[in-house]
Amino acid sequence: MKTYKIALLPGDGVGEEVCAVAEKVLQKVGAKFSLKFEIEKATVGGAAIEKFGEPLPEKTLQICEKSDAILFGSVGDPKFDSAKIRPEIAILNLRKHFQFFANLRPARLFPGLENFSPLKNEIVAGGFDFTIVRELTGGIYFGEKTRGENFATDEMKYEKFEIERIARAAFNLAKSRRGKVCSIDKNNVLQTSKFWRETVVEIHEKEFPEIKLQHLLIDNATMQILKNPKNFDVILTANLFGDILSDEAAQICGSIGLSASASLNAENFGLFEPAGGSAPDIAGKNLANPSAQILSAAMMLKNFGEIAAAAAIENAIEKTLRKFRTADLADENCETVGCTEFGEKVLENL
Ligand code: NAD
Ligand code: IPM
Ligand code: MN
Repeated sequence: MKTYKIALLPGDGVGEEVCAVAEKVLQKVGAKFSLKFEIEKATVGGAAIEKFGEPLPEKTLQICEKSDAILFGSVGDPKFDSAKIRPEIAILNLRKHFQFFANLRPARLFPGLENFSPLKNEIVAGGFDFTIVRELTGGIYFGEKTRGENFATDEMKYEKFEIERIARAAFNLAKSRRGKVCSIDKNNVLQTSKFWRETVVEIHEKEFPEIKLQHLLIDNATMQILKNPKNFDVILTANLFGDILSDEAAQICGSIGLSASASLNAENFGLFEPAGGSAPDIAGKNLANPSAQILSAAMMLKNFGEIAAAAAIENAIEKTLRKFRTADLADENCETVGCTEFGEKVLENL
């Protein structure tokens, strides 16, 4: 039987609730597809600051190091908002440590959720399906930071190899999809964006001439996504722009509670996590939508090459959503259930 070691890092807020559901889904899918998941839990984020005084303890990192993949919940807690050490440092350090430079965030409208998209029905009818490929270990997130009494700076820097490798990730993904990449930047103002665009064009011409490449400025892009999401296939963008666009993309799919992601490095080792956060406003109330966490586990399986198992999870979510909803997607034609109960329905539909 094929065995996979999974480091499970629930983190803060709704992380614990949604990871508990995802864990059960993994065990069930394992039984169904003859896969064994050895799941080792580790503390991260605010929970780790409270227990060990640091957001990413050495022990947690070690558990991640010896795993085949990391399934991550979310980190962040308002009680650390003005603290010097914030829980979010954990996810940033994990990304940097493992060089998870490629962050894939799919935005697909599930059938039946058209009314939950804030976009007009005529725009979303028939669905849309694009994936954001966000550069995750460079740019303004990881540049030098300074703080004086009357000023603050965040350096935005991109090295050529960082742009090249994320561009290749986007072009390769487009090859397996509809063959279109839209690179989004701020080429009219930022040096990093001018360099980004030049480098993307170079990689395109040399290595992926068969892919259709388009460029948009970030301000226009935010608008075009709302105007016609069907036009997009693969969106390639830098760290900060990708962060912002992925929440916009999540919302036009109905809820951030559906938005999964994969963060991969050059060795194809990955961390899988919802695009949304710890949702402190609903944490501990059994209100969270566990779909993003479950779909992140499905992305993990896909990355292992367990395509049938991943598809079974996706189908079970789609089927469950037809009759049952968590509060974020409450619908008069469906039964509104809690996080745990939604998970039970997914298990039944598996
Ligand atoms: P958030 O994504 O946590 O919440 C935004 C809104 O979406 C809230 O109304 C929340 O209730 C809702 N929401 C989020 N996940 C949901 C789910 N699974 N089901 C139903 N509704 C859901 O964003 P925020 O409020 O800006 O951030 C809260 C904390 O999370 C902050 O500390 C932030 O830094 C952190 N955060 C962490 C990650 C991560 O760990 N990767 C990602 C984003 C934000
Ligand atoms: C995300 C989050 C993170 C980010 C935070 C928590 C550091 O918003 O994964 O989208 O900004 O990348
Ligand atoms: Mn974000």
